[in-house]
Amino acid sequence: MGNEPHYVWIWLALVKLGCTASLLNNNIRSKSLLHCFSCCEAKVLVAGADLQAAVEEVLPALKQQGIRVFILTEDCSVEGIESLCDKIQQASDQPLSPQLSANIDIKSPALYIFTSGTSGLPKAAIVSHEKLWMTSFVLSLVGVRSDDIIYIYLPLYHGGGFLMGLCGAIEKGITVVLRRKFSASQFWNDCRKYNVTIIQYIGEIMRYLCNTPKRDNDRDHKVRLALGNGIRADTWAEFLQRFGDIHICECYGSTEGNIGFINYVGKIGAVGKEHFIHKMGYSYALIRYDPEKEEPVKDSRGFCIRVPRGETGLLVSKIGERTPFSGYAKNEQQTEKKRLRNVFVKGDLYFNSGDLLKIDNEGFVFFQDRVGDTFRCIDKTT
Ligand SMILES: *[C@@H]1O[C@H](CO)[C@@H](O)[C@H](O)[C@H]1NC(C)=O
Repeated sequence: MGNEPHYVWIWLALVKLGCTASLLNNNIRSKSLLHCFSCCEAKVLVAGADLQAAVEEVLPALKQQGIRVFILTEDCSVEGIESLCDKIQQASDQPLSPQLSANIDIKSPALYIFTSGTSGLPKAAIVSHEKLWMTSFVLSLVGVRSDDIIYIYLPLYHGGGFLMGLCGAIEKGITVVLRRKFSASQFWNDCRKYNVTIIQYIGEIMRYLCNTPKRDNDRDHKVRLALGNGIRADTWAEFLQRFGDIHICECYGSTEGNIGFINYVGKIGAVGKEHFIHKMGYSYALIRYDPEKEEPVKDSRGFCIRVPRGETGLLVSKIGERTPFSGYAKNEQQTEKKRLRNVFVKGDLYFNSGDLLKIDNEGFVFFQDRVGDTFRCIDKTT
């Protein structure tokens, strides 16, 4: 499904039933679609009305696996695809039996969200209810108020739009303006029309907005906060100069990672600032990394070496009860690749972010480079 209201209702309904939802990219087709669908061992496919042709293409394979297929239409004449909208209309509004979700707890998987690597097929990051719940507080942390209106155009099948945007909005109880797809020419018109106060971004989007022809009404809007990641320092300055006094809140984190930073003070160029919350229960470090050998540098005893403040190092974050790493669905090999053992003492266990960062004396965090197989998942189709 693309970004549409049904996406939200269906997901909420699935959670109520105790189902785990695997959020598929609505642009993938045939082999990739089947791979992503199957790698979480999904049993049911629900598709938007506009995706019927894509579903029909993989229908024989789905039939073979005994998958039930629903499409969001009033009726459907294709054998093997059932319409869903008519059934929603007829469904009872009585409360569901709590028995249905009795086996779900905070550690249970709530979602699978796909992340890509530079090599190989997409991997499904397991997002537990705990992670979903914690991410939903980011909006509060950055000062979103109950009268704010958030504009969501980032795809709901990624963590940015779904976890931070949608779940954050649900947690705050704020109004969501949901757009199917990013449009540089319509962006500010939408913001004006719907009184948007909060926007989300990824680096390229901010550049696209700065590249649109200048207009007299560039500063005529109510947007006060932009939340996202990957904006370059030069774009950042240009954006503020052109579109006015918008607080840009650059964030660092990943769907599967167990550590995040927020640049809540708006210092240009930083992806985050260390916060007292980080001292409570989080244990992370920047360790020396050898880019030639593509591995951490070890000391004479075979342990990793913390870099001094102000120097670049690989971010690793201890895996523990409060900072879990759930890994990838049915993919122990990729999960293990993100685990680093015997980092500072024998037997310890860390999450390897694959990101080289620098933290200065004031605690500002700067992104430097990405190493190995990982890269930030930015959807080119937006
Ligand atoms: C936006 O705000 C203005 C002024 O407060 C109000 O008149 C208008 O109805 C609002 N628009 C929407 C779509 O809510």
